[in-house]
Amino acid sequence: MTPSAPPPFSTLIRTASQQQHTEAESSTFMGDLLGGRLGVEAYARYTEQLWFVYRALEEGARALVDDPVAGPFIRPELMRTGALARDLAHLRGEGWRDTAVPLPATSAYADRVTQCARSWPAGYVAHHYTRYLGDLSGGQIIRDRAERTWGFTRRGDGVRFYVFEEIPNPAAFKRSYRELLDGVRVDEVERRRVVEECGRAFALNTAVFRELGEEFPLSA
Ligand code: HEM
Repeated sequence: MTPSAPPPFSTLIRTASQQQHTEAESSTFMGDLLGGRLGVEAYARYTEQLWFVYRALEEGARALVDDPVAGPFIRPELMRTGALARDLAHLRGEGWRDTAVPLPATSAYADRVTQCARSWPAGYVAHHYTRYLGDLSGGQIIRDRAERTWGFTRRGDGVRFYVFEEIPNPAAFKRSYRELLDGVRVDEVERRRVVEECGRAFALNTAVFRELGEEFPLSA
């Protein structure tokens, strides 16, 4: 009998992170935010945290464009820092950079992304996947809620982070992204390490939600 083929990497990475996805999704802060129970200040503070994370992801991306493992994932149509800057200017005013402060969990998250970008391209892919594929999926639910709760213009300032102008067909994009994952040229041991890093990426996100929840303790 021939042993069955291992599952495609995209399936492996997805199933391995399912439980943590549920945890992140059902965090108190996310629940309150999506439930419309928090003010726009909480949304602005969350958006600010995203800016620090995406700055690390996208500054790190520059050096990885030609990397054989991470390079194919670096796509200009995914870049979010420009959209986040516009959202924050809308939410906080033009001087938003002077007052933006990362939470300790956000600094830890951004530092880990930077560390991977500098020294472990496959680990960087784990972070890239966790954020961008999530934004293209559940991010759309968050956008819809934010528009309704705080009255942003549909797909306009305040929610531009969630609007991928240059990706008209997110489902097709996600399919091609998964193909890229399946084709990543690393061995089984390295694949397992990437899956673990993905778990770490989810945990880092959950830690940010936890600290945001402490700052906006509505459900307490
Ligand atoms: C309230 C918050 C969230 C909601 C409502 C949500 C919802 C979803 C939905 C509906 C999908 C699509 C699943 C599919 O394609 O079948 C998805 C996928 C995904 N989400 Fe979330 N999500 C949330 C938070 C997060 C967070 C915090 C992360 C991590 C930072 C994340 C990462 C991902 C990833 C990586 C995928 C792609 C899975 C794959 O197809 O490989 N999500 N999410």
